[in-house]
This record gives sequence, C-alpha cells and structure tokens, in this order.
Amino acid sequence: MDVARLIALRQSVRSYADQPVEEEKLAQLIEAVRLAPSASNSQPWKLILVTDPDLKDKVARATFSALVSFNKFAPEAPVLAVLVIEKPRVITQIGARLKDREFPLIDIGIAASQFCLRATELGLGTCMLGWFDEQAIKKLLHIPASRRIGLVITLGYAREGDPLRPKRRKQAEEMSSRNSY
Ligand SMILES: Cc1cc2nc3c(=O)[nH]c(=O)nc-3n(C[C@H](O)[C@H](O)[C@H](O)COP(=O)(O)O)c2cc1C
Repeated sequence: MDVARLIALRQSVRSYADQPVEEEKLAQLIEAVRLAPSASNSQPWKLILVTDPDLKDKVARATFSALVSFNKFAPEAPVLAVLVIEKPRVITQIGARLKDREFPLIDIGIAASQFCLRATELGLGTCMLGWFDEQAIKKLLHIPASRRIGLVITLGYAREGDPLRPKRRKQAEEMSSRNSY
C-alpha cells in the first residue's frame, strides 16, 4: 500500500471486534517502532504490548473514569501498546538542554505514528490515547518511577461496519504557508 493511501486510511478506531491479533503482526509492529527515527538515534522508548486479558483489562480501565469517560471503548481492544519514554543518550540530553527542546516527546510521536500506519497496512485499527492514569498503569506494568508513559495505543480489528470517516482538518491555507510564517 502506498504511503498516501495509508495516511488517508488511518483513523482512530474506537470499536473493536472480538478477534485476537496474530503474533506475526505484533512482531511487525514492534519492527515498525524499532526502525523509527529519533534525535541522535537515541531511540528513547520501550514498547510494552499488553496482551494478557486480565492485565490488559486493568490497564484499559485506567484510561477512563466515571467523570472522564471518552476512553470507555478501550477494554474492547484485544491489545494495548504502551510507549514508555526512556532516557535519551547523554549527548542528546545535553543538546536538548542547550536548545530547550523536548526531543523524546517528538521521538515518541514519530514512533507512535509508524506503529499506527503499519497497523493500518496490516488491516488493524488503532487509537492513540493521551488521557490515562499514568501512576496506575506504571504500577500495573512495573514501569520504574523515573520513567514517563508517552502514549497508550489501542490495537485490534475494527468492528464490522466501522466506515472510513471524512477527515475533519484545517484547510491547507490555514495550516501551512510559504517562505514566511
Ligand atoms: C497525542 C494524542 C492523544 C490522543 N488522545 C486520545 C484519547 O485519549 N482518547 C481518544 O479517543 N482519542 C485520542 N486521540 C485521537 C485523536 O482524537 C484523533 O487522532 C483526532 O481526533 C483525529 O482523528 P483521527 O485519528 O480519526 O484522524 C489522541 C491523539 C493523539 C495524537
């Protein structure tokens, strides 16, 4: 599938079929993250795939609450991918401090994007979740206190009849310009 088609096809999937994700596909998704570019090639991430049903359910339940319920669909997904932000290389840390840049956050975003686009190519649906109880998930997955979770991504086959939605986006003239801000 060409990249333009993948970009058009990828959308946040919030309704999943009761169907497991094949191990080969999980391996291909790990590879998509492994090959992602990063500042000074620091690769400041650890990808945790949560597939154990009980544990996955507990992690999914830490992405919503009675008050904030928009991630209530998360338990439907058969897999949760948790992207942990690792410490970048010392040279990257020095560069980031000198230039006041948050390289690992940028890196995690690129890695997540590669994950989601590759999943689309494999016929799988994803939804990046930025809203979750970080402390609860860190405890469940034994993530060291010194680490932060960048994103949780739901993964699975979209439920039948989940059509491609029109993309609601700013117009090109609004979000891009030529030669000046
Ligand atoms: C960093 C980030 C955090 C997000 N957090 C959530 C979330 O917590 N819950 C959710 O349902 N969608 C979440 N989304 C999905 C966005 O709402 C979605 O990408 C956007 O509305 C565009 O829709 P599309 O992905 O279908 O093209 C998140 C996306 C990103 C990139």
